[in-house]
Formats: sequence, C-alpha cells, structure tokens
Amino acid sequence: MADAPATAGQMLALARDFLARKQLAEARLDAELLVAHALGLDRLHLFLALDRPVTPAEVARARELLVRRAGREPTAHLTGRREFYGRSFAVSRDVLVPRPESELLVDRARALLVGRVAPRVADVGTGSGCLAITLALELEGARVAAVDVSAAALALARANAQRLGASVDLREGDGPRALADAAPFDVEVSNPPYVRPEEAAALEPEVREHEPALALFLPAGEPDHWLLRLFDEALPLLAPGGALLIELGAGQAPRALELARERGFAARCVRDLAGIERVLELAVPG
Ligand SMILES: C[S@@+](CC[C@H](N)C(=O)[O-])C[C@H]1O[C@@H](n2cnc3c(N)ncnc32)[C@H](O)[C@@H]1O
Repeated sequence: MADAPATAGQMLALARDFLARKQLAEARLDAELLVAHALGLDRLHLFLALDRPVTPAEVARARELLVRRAGREPTAHLTGRREFYGRSFAVSRDVLVPRPESELLVDRARALLVGRVAPRVADVGTGSGCLAITLALELEGARVAAVDVSAAALALARANAQRLGASVDLREGDGPRALADAAPFDVEVSNPPYVRPEEAAALEPEVREHEPALALFLPAGEPDHWLLRLFDEALPLLAPGGALLIELGAGQAPRALELARERGFAARCVRDLAGIERVLELAVPG
C-alpha cells in the first residue's frame, strides 16, 4: 500500500491492488481476510464498516500483514484462523491448514451415518482437529476418537475442541493402533500425508515453506505407505457394516483402487467439487 488510506474501504481497495500485482491466486479474498484481521473485524463486519476511519497503527498492521503475504506466508498463518465446514479453527505452523476439499470426508461420513444413533467415529492424523471436531458437532451423540503423532498438533486440536464445544477423545500416538481400545468404529476418516518427497519442488511456497513436513510428506520411496497402513491397521478396527474414508491426492485414485481391490476390499472413489477423485471409500461387510 503506497498511499495511506483514510477508511477501511480505501484500505481494502489498496490491499486488493497490492496483492493482485503480486499475482496471488486469491488476492481478493486474501485482502479481505487480512484487512479485516488488521482492523480486528471478521469479513462480514469489514463490509459493514467500509466508511470507518482507520488509525495509523491499523494501517501499519495491515501493511505488515500484506508484505508478509506477498512473501508467500499463508493467509491462515497471518490471521491464525481458517474456516472449515462453517466453523473457525485456530491454525499454526504445527498443523496443516484445513483445506476445503477435506470437507468431502465430512459429507461422506455424514451420508454413511444417516439414521445411526450415537455413531462411533475415528480420525487418524487429526492435525488441527478439523475433521474430528466437525464430525463430533455434526453427528448427534457421536463418540469421536482421534490420533496424531505430533504433540504440538494435538495441543492445538484440544484448544479447538474446547473453544468449539466439541467432545473428542484426542490421543497422541502413532497411527490407527493408538485408537484400538476405543474400537469398533462405524466410520473412520483419514487425511494422511500424501505428497511424495520428490514432488516438493512443485508445491506452492506457502505449502512447501510453511506447513509441517510431517503433515505433507510420505516416507521417501514408499508412495503406498499410508494406504497400506490404513488398510492393515484401521480396517480391523471397523464394526461390521463400517467404512474407512481416506483422502487422496489428485491422480492417486487408480493406484488406491488397485491396492484395495488386490486385497479383496469393496472400494470406490468419490469426486470433489473440482471433479477430482478425492475420497477412497472402503466398506466392510455388515
Ligand atoms: C495431511 S495432515 C491432516 C490434518 C487434518 N486431519 C486435516 O485434514 O486438515 C496429516 C496429519 O497426520 C499426522 N501424522 C503424520 N504421521 C502420523 C502418524 N504416524 N500417526 C498419527 N498421525 C500422523 C500429521 O501430524 C498431520 O497432522
């Protein structure tokens, strides 16, 4: 922002121009979120306050946020928050920023559990807790257990659960087996790390330089690691008639289906809003 804006509306216009010149894909949305944050407002209230005068301290705060965003720090890290399934989650450098495509896991779990009283649900690799907490709040009477190997992620998930009023059994541990004593489950969801290390260079700088490697990357040379672990360790924890839902990266569906069918599992993939085969669903017989 070269000129000093006098109102929130002027600040927003300057912020949009600045981020658009930096070629950011979502310059408009980022500008709205960052200006709102600098003014201590949410996006809706920003639009209701466009004539509000801004102070020099607010201008300085907005300027700093915009410069950092232009340096490719994720907007969610700058605001400390990200919306997921209509709720605001705290995020930090210790967790993956919740992605809109992961909402499909929630939609599919809800669809599979329609009419089920007090369903039992598991989430493997919970990160911010976005999936486990959303399911606990959306499914009436649900008992939800979730695991992550990262103590720092777990601390954030606990804070999110408390602030959003969700009851989730959050455990620090390595993979699905850490949830064995809470089994059987009617649905298990997992958004495991699914980027191959050799793909790191192709990631956006926001992701590669700011999100935790533990949340992003598969072990080197083991592209099937998480699918096989979930098949081996999570499927045995399902109740009869239960389902395992795994988020996939773009292009991973054919291999995931092949691995599942080789093992004799009933499997299919569900597409996200962008048409990408995003969720692998495995059903166990009832
Ligand atoms: C792709 S992130 C998903 C986070 C969150 N569920 C979401 O959808 O936004 C994967 C998560 O798996 C966790 N993770 C990695 N290895 C793990 C392991 N061996 N056991 C449990 N969690 C693990 C990471 O710490 C990270 O939080």
